[in-house]
Amino acid sequence: MAKKELTPKKIKKELDRYIIGQNDAKRSIAIAIRNRWRRQNVKGFIKEEILPNNLILIGPTGVGKTEIARRIAKLVDAPFLKIEATKFTEVGYVGRDVESMVRDLMNISVNMVKARRQVEVAERAKKLGEERLIDLLLPGEDKETQKESREKLRNLLHKGALKDKYVNIPVYVHSFPLIEIFGPMGLEEVNTDLQDMMSSMSPKKRKTRRVKVNEAKEILAQEEAQKLVDMEEVIAEAKKSLENSGIIFIDELDKTVGSEGKAGPDVSRSGVQRDLLPIVEGSNVMTKYGMVETDHILFIAAGAFTSTKPSDLIPELQGRFPIRVELFSLKKEDFIKILTEPENALIKQYTALFRTEGVNLTFDKKAIVAIAEYAVLVNETTDDIGARRLHTVMFALMDNWLYKLPVRGIKNIHIEENDVQEGLKDIVQNVDLARYIL
Ligand SMILES: Nc1ncnc2c1ncn2[C@@H]1O[C@H](COP(=O)(O)OP(=O)(O)OP(=O)(O)O)[C@@H](O)[C@H]1O
Ligand SMILES: [Mg+2]
Repeated sequence: MAKKELTPKKIKKELDRYIIGQNDAKRSIAIAIRNRWRRQNVKGFIKEEILPNNLILIGPTGVGKTEIARRIAKLVDAPFLKIEATKFTEVGYVGRDVESMVRDLMNISVNMVKARRQVEVAERAKKLGEERLIDLLLPGEDKETQKESREKLRNLLHKGALKDKYVNIPVYVHSFPLIEIFGPMGLEEVNTDLQDMMSSMSPKKRKTRRVKVNEAKEILAQEEAQKLVDMEEVIAEAKKSLENSGIIFIDELDKTVGSEGKAGPDVSRSGVQRDLLPIVEGSNVMTKYGMVETDHILFIAAGAFTSTKPSDLIPELQGRFPIRVELFSLKKEDFIKILTEPENALIKQYTALFRTEGVNLTFDKKAIVAIAEYAVLVNETTDDIGARRLHTVMFALMDNWLYKLPVRGIKNIHIEENDVQEGLKDIVQNVDLARYIL
């Protein structure tokens, strides 16, 4: 659920910390996410009628589509799944069917709710775990007569005086090892479900493990937390959360635009689109936690659509993604910002790496401009791979230092325009070489 405080402007601002430009995309996504929360708070029948703003992000390679997805994943407090459309094959072919994305999302939702509940009961679980730990440290029948010694022990535990002592705790392990039943190809879905089933069927054996007191405290508290959390309730809440606030990001949607009519490895591609229809439109999907409805899941798709167009998608699917947002090619000015501004900016990354060698790495403003210019130039002369080019250019530039360091006596490295020219000129001028190296 987009939290109350997460207004569209705040979502956009949060995305601004990592993604340069692409304001239309950030804005549309912020609205779509906020609309989930708004719908949740609508009263009456009209609530059911309000459908999610499914949208497609369209833009050339390396301009921030996947990056946006990664960042909203961290931002929203809702079941969120990011998946590549190329992972799927049409029902009937070997591979993952599209419904598995809903099953995956349900697993995510269950884990989220469970984790939240476990935090809620953490205090109580800790106390109960402590009681059990004392039981283990002070074996004996009568808790009443041991009352005094129990209190003493508790005090010692709190002071941490026993932390280097060992204690035997019972743990439960499967009495036969779970084996991989299928090969590595395709059937992973069946495989995990089957493994779940097997592990719930297989009898568990009690074993003792010798661990330090502090570790025992953790393990026991964890076990108690699991006991305190009612899984029925968790599943019910997880289902509600998925059905009302779940978000699925389908990356590389353009790759499902296959060669319709042609035989070959692509034969199942547009079948994937057809399989997607009911899920995006709204249908029931069977998961191991029961049926879930997909009507109000928000779908965000992304694709470069370079050799294909969104209108090459099957028409029904186009209709289910009413909002199209374009992302734009990045320019020199964007590259300069991308190098320096985002919290994970490349320059910041290299500075951090060099610091581990005791070196203070700095860049002259002009040097950064030159790096951006080279990236643009190489994109123009070879293939345009967008901001990904910055990674390769930066690596080529820093390569020598990365190999040489640490060097005794070198505490500061300042990169100037000249260094950039020198480091990259030869490679860039030779297009063939550039193709290999950058
Ligand atoms: N607008 C941007 N702001 C900041 N960094 C960006 C931006 N666009 C791209 N990058 C950087 O380039 C990398 C690649 O971008 P991203 O994965 O988003 O490409 P994409 O648009 O999904 O391309 P593709 O169509 O090839 O999947 C990101 O990891 C990020 O470091
Ligand atoms: Mg991508």
